Amino acid sequence: MVIETPAVRPANPRFSSGPCAKPPTWTPDALADAPLGRSHRAAVGKDKLKAAIEETREILGIPADYKIGIVPASDTGAVEMAMWSLLGARPVEMLAWESFGAGWVTDVVKQLKLDAVVKTADYGEIVDLASVDFNNDVVFTWNGTTSGVRVPNGDFIPADREGLTICDATSAAFAMDLPWDKLDVTTFSWQKVLGGEAAHGMLILSPRAVERLESYTPAWPLPKIFRLTKGGKLIDGIFSGATINTPSMLCVEDYLFALNWAREQGGLKGLIARADANTAEVAKFVEAHDWIDFLAEDPAIRSNTSVCLKFTDPRITDGAAFAKAVAKRLEAEGVALDIGAYRDAPAGLRIWCGGTVETADVAALMPWLNWAFEAEIAALAEAA
Ligand SMILES: Cc1ncc(COP(=O)(O)O)c(C=O)c1O
Repeated sequence: MVIETPAVRPANPRFSSGPCAKPPTWTPDALADAPLGRSHRAAVGKDKLKAAIEETREILGIPADYKIGIVPASDTGAVEMAMWSLLGARPVEMLAWESFGAGWVTDVVKQLKLDAVVKTADYGEIVDLASVDFNNDVVFTWNGTTSGVRVPNGDFIPADREGLTICDATSAAFAMDLPWDKLDVTTFSWQKVLGGEAAHGMLILSPRAVERLESYTPAWPLPKIFRLTKGGKLIDGIFSGATINTPSMLCVEDYLFALNWAREQGGLKGLIARADANTAEVAKFVEAHDWIDFLAEDPAIRSNTSVCLKFTDPRITDGAAFAKAVAKRLEAEGVALDIGAYRDAPAGLRIWCGGTVETADVAALMPWLNWAFEAEIAALAEAA
């Protein structure tokens, strides 16, 4: 069988789920105005950090009484400083349906040694959200990047909850609607949906989270890098651009560029529409081919950023080897970089569909999936 090479290639083959593709208009010139070699505490540095906070607020529609801080160690840093600072005051419920959520369970159960209620679901599925007790503090991931499963919306979180919600939204922010009134702690990293740089985390706190911080002292020690309060009061500077330690002003400049690009796309609405259009291209392809399916079979919980796919052809005996070979073939052709499933996830492909990816590129990639699949099936038949 002759396998025809598709005529069109994606202009940008970057479909990684983090660091994600940079905005299509990005060039290194975007960084020209970075105040390099200057103190981040000089007015020019502080102004840039403050602008990053306030523009984040505007684009994501974060209420004026919520605090937004730039913190060390990317999304992981933001999630861990929240858990270490807030948990232990009341019972805890941990929800996980893929590797990152599972990592937060390990933190809470094995490191903080809290006797938490743990609810987990297999890759492609989600826990029973109706069974969650929000009188407990609840830690969950809005979008599971490694399984392509997200919560459908915030309706499962009651407005009058007693506990706090701590939400890792790193692959959701700027691609999905986040109901701020239901989220007490929200975190993300610049390296995800806006295609920024890693190492800096965003920590967003509701007034109730601040109240907890100011009224509760955990039993365990907190390193300086995690400390959000001083003398029982929130360190306000962290939430106005006076970071705990030194940030990279190059990364800040890069994030400011991405925020401006986001604004040009119509803000959050425009970004959601871009991610939805990208995902729709993949869905069209999946519907037309019976050898591939979404890992998340239920569309209500299917991600529009980290889109995870599985091969379902019965001729495939070693799923992991097959998926790896397909991804390798596509990478060698220069049409798709970094689309192998996450190392702990079921074998398959993961195609990032966040707003920085152009829909034309997703559309151009689809025939290549078919091409690589047929080539690998042919190779299997030949080896048999
Ligand atoms: C859901 C989720 N949480 C946490 C992380 C860790 O993010 P970072 O490396 O930015 O700390 C990732 C990274 O992919 C993620 O997808």
